[in-house]
Parts: sequence; C-alpha cells; structure tokens
Amino acid sequence: MQSVSFERAAAFYDATRGYAPGSAERIRDAIVAQTGATVQTRFLELGIGTGRIALPFLAAGFSYAGVDLSQAMLDVLLGKASGWPRRPLLARGDVLQLPFSDGSFDVILAVHVLHLVADWRATLREARRVLRPQGGHLLLAGDIGDDEREEVALASLPPPVQAQRVWKATLKELGLTGHEGQPGVNARDPLVRVALEDLGATVEALDMTEYARPARSARDVVEGYRQRIYSADWARPEELHHAALARMEHWLNAGCPEPERPYPRSGRFRAVLATWG
Ligand SMILES: C[S@@+](CC[C@H](N)C(=O)[O-])C[C@H]1O[C@@H](n2cnc3c(N)ncnc32)[C@H](O)[C@@H]1O
Repeated sequence: MQSVSFERAAAFYDATRGYAPGSAERIRDAIVAQTGATVQTRFLELGIGTGRIALPFLAAGFSYAGVDLSQAMLDVLLGKASGWPRRPLLARGDVLQLPFSDGSFDVILAVHVLHLVADWRATLREARRVLRPQGGHLLLAGDIGDDEREEVALASLPPPVQAQRVWKATLKELGLTGHEGQPGVNARDPLVRVALEDLGATVEALDMTEYARPARSARDVVEGYRQRIYSADWARPEELHHAALARMEHWLNAGCPEPERPYPRSGRFRAVLATWG
C-alpha cells in the first residue's frame, strides 16, 4: 500500500471529524500567527480533504491551493464554496508528485496526512521542492485527543475517552498495533525531525491551540469503531475486528459508567514546524 485515499470516507468525514463551531478559525489563527502569514502568503495544503482546515482560510481570502488523491473528498469541499473572495487552486493528485513548479508556495500544511503515505520521506522532499527556497514553512500537524494524555488514570477520564483507551488496550491484547492500515509515520515521530533537518530545516515542535470538539458518548465512540470510520481500522482482518468489538460491547455493558451520556471533549492542535532560513 503506497497511500491511503479517503474516497470511502468522503460521505462521513465531516460528521465524524468536524470541529465544533469556532475551532477551525482558532486553528487558522494559530497557523497565521506562527508563520507570520498575510493574505499575500501562498498556502498549499497536502491532503486538503473536505476542507476542514482550509475553509476558514478560504473564507478570509487567503491564497490557498490544495491537493488530494480523492476526488470524492475534493467534491465535498467544492460543495461548500460560498462567497470565497478568491478561488482556491484545487488539484486531484499525489503528494509524491505535486503538479506545481519549484518554489511556488510560502507555507505548506499537511494535517493528518504523513501517516497515510508509505514514502513519507519523498513527501517531505517534494514539499521542499515546491516551497520557496528561503523563509518557507512546512507545518505537519494533527489533532490530539484527550485519550492521548497517557499520564491520566483511566477511571478519572470521561467515559468516551475511556472507550478510546480500552479500544487501544483491546487491540494490543489481540496482538494488533491499531494502525494496520496506515503505511506512513506520525508527524511527531523523531524520524520526521531527523529527515527534515537532513533537508536543511530548523524544526520546532509546537502545541498550537486548544479547542472544543463535539460531544460524544462512549457508545458513539464504539459505534465509530464498528463502522470503521477511521483509516486505522480499515485494513484490519474482519475476524479480529469483530473480536475486538465483542470485547468493547462487553465493556460498555459491564464496565463503562454512563455509556449513553454524551460528554464534551477537547482537542489540541499539535504541529512540527520546519522552516528554511
Ligand atoms: C485524514 S484526511 C485529512 C484531511 C484534511 N487535511 C483534514 O485535516 O481534515 C487525509 C487526506 O489525505 C489524502 N491523501 C492520502 N494520501 C495522499 C497522497 N499520497 N496524495 C494526496 N492526498 C493524499 C486523503 O485522500 C485524505 O483526503
């Protein structure tokens, strides 16, 4: 598997990954502040998807281009076009072969993408090629949920976060990594920093902003796993997936406090920022 297209996820991506109102704008503002961007700045987003990150930039009139393997994801984004001061330059294409000439952009964003591309090192090289030679920024980012705060004891977490933790532990018990379908690398992996430094960048790890996420119950979380809404679940053999779900069902009925009650959630936007001076 070279890359993971989100063709199958276009219909449910926004409903399952969307931010609460105002959160995407907070993320945009944090990116703008961090990169010193203005409306003249030329942005490119790798794996732009349905525009979860792009929309507030487009609404504010930034110069914004995006590439994605999935036409269905791009179609969802285009369906949201309304009163954008500038038309975005959107291309169906592969981040490994960007349809742009050298030095075309000032800031490149890739949010939840690097883990989907087997040759993530070539992705970084290709991003570097289309970034302006000096002063360009490459921001590799993602949302961090409450379940990734591993210092917190399970029982003190809200039930939907417990469900995420219990799911991870269940997959581990079954001998699975939980990331079977993801051929790439987490952007925060130290290997990424090394690869960026090898390309001549100065690299910073950033905790950029915190925001609200839509409320969910523990049962909603398990239902998401059942429906394989996350790419991490797409390549798992059916039998193992069902075995994990059966254990989760047992936990919901026997171990989980308030499985049906929706709880508010928070998220953090974390990034690795590479800058070429
Ligand atoms: C998890 S989604 C993230 C979308 C958007 N960045 C966001 O944060 O909402 C990943 C996107 O990357 C796209 N993608 C995966 N591999 C790709 C590749 N090699 N080239 C271009 N797009 C790719 C998928 O089709 C999908 O739309």
